[in-house]
Amino acid sequence: MAYPIARHRRLRGSEALRGLVRETGVSVNDLIAPIFVTEGEGVQEEISSMPGVYHWSLDTLEKELADIASAGIKAVLVFGVPSTKDAIGTSAFEENGIVQRGIRKIKSLYPDMVVIADTCLCQFTDHGHCGVVHRTDGGAVIDNDASLEMLAKTAVSQAKAGADIIAPSNMMDGFVAAIREALDREGFVNTPIMSYAVKFASAYYGPFREAAHSTPQFGDRRTYQMDPANAREALREASSDVEEGADFLMVKPGLAYLDIVRMLRDRYELPIVVYNVSAEYAMVKAAAMQGWLDERAIVLETLTGMKRAGADLIITYHAKDAARWLQGN
Ligand code: PBG
Ligand code: ZN
Repeated sequence: MAYPIARHRRLRGSEALRGLVRETGVSVNDLIAPIFVTEGEGVQEEISSMPGVYHWSLDTLEKELADIASAGIKAVLVFGVPSTKDAIGTSAFEENGIVQRGIRKIKSLYPDMVVIADTCLCQFTDHGHCGVVHRTDGGAVIDNDASLEMLAKTAVSQAKAGADIIAPSNMMDGFVAAIREALDREGFVNTPIMSYAVKFASAYYGPFREAAHSTPQFGDRRTYQMDPANAREALREASSDVEEGADFLMVKPGLAYLDIVRMLRDRYELPIVVYNVSAEYAMVKAAAMQGWLDERAIVLETLTGMKRAGADLIITYHAKDAARWLQGN
């Protein structure tokens, strides 16, 4: 027998052949576009570390939504930047909070758009933590169970405003159960929970915190977000969320954590979501602006890698561009 025995290149001879044997692909149906809504009028303010991503006021939001919809994207993840903050994050759960008004606006303009609400307190607390702070002699601690009450209220107010999916990103213990119970009690039994089940304490959130004005004023998030070194612990986080009734499991950030995506894919039947976070976006944009890489090729390769790792859905700031590129525009 002549060598080589294995001629893998047989299946790579033409684009058509490569297409026939392609194992994974990215579809516009897989993409979720984050959107930042803020108080004020006439605001369209670019986030300096995230070129192409803006803060929108309710009156300018329509332009961004039209762009998202015309790219074929069917889901958005809403973040709010409020004008007032306090110790318990009251503006997160007010009927007329910025997120609640944003949700109503989006649903009124695009009733078919799937509106996902990020459920956390950090944009709304004056200390910038994702939960309620309890001061002790030794300093400040994040009070898990007191935070659950505020988070449940926030989720209910978002559902009342018309959110189709609740996406809690706070990493308190028991948040899925607390939110599920509150939603059910208020009649929202059919509102799914997309749990940020495995969220690592990551430097990759840096640009987002600038965008959302949510940098902690003291300490850091390492008492509630996970240690980047841990994978088995990620399974414990995911399994408790599954038991508590999560409908989707999210892994965040994306690129440095695709092994975790694969682990969850192999163990759970729920849809898996990966969050291609702000610094992952910023790095690509910065290099692309220097002419150091081919942005389109890099983004599509990254998204393909996320799908290959097992993600069903991808939250990404590249969503609009990627959707257009996927359609050949
Ligand atoms: C808030 C929240 C964060 C992100 C999404 N929701 C930041 C954080 O936990 O500090 C990060 C998103 C990104 O970096 O793109 N809990
Ligand atoms: Zn938070």
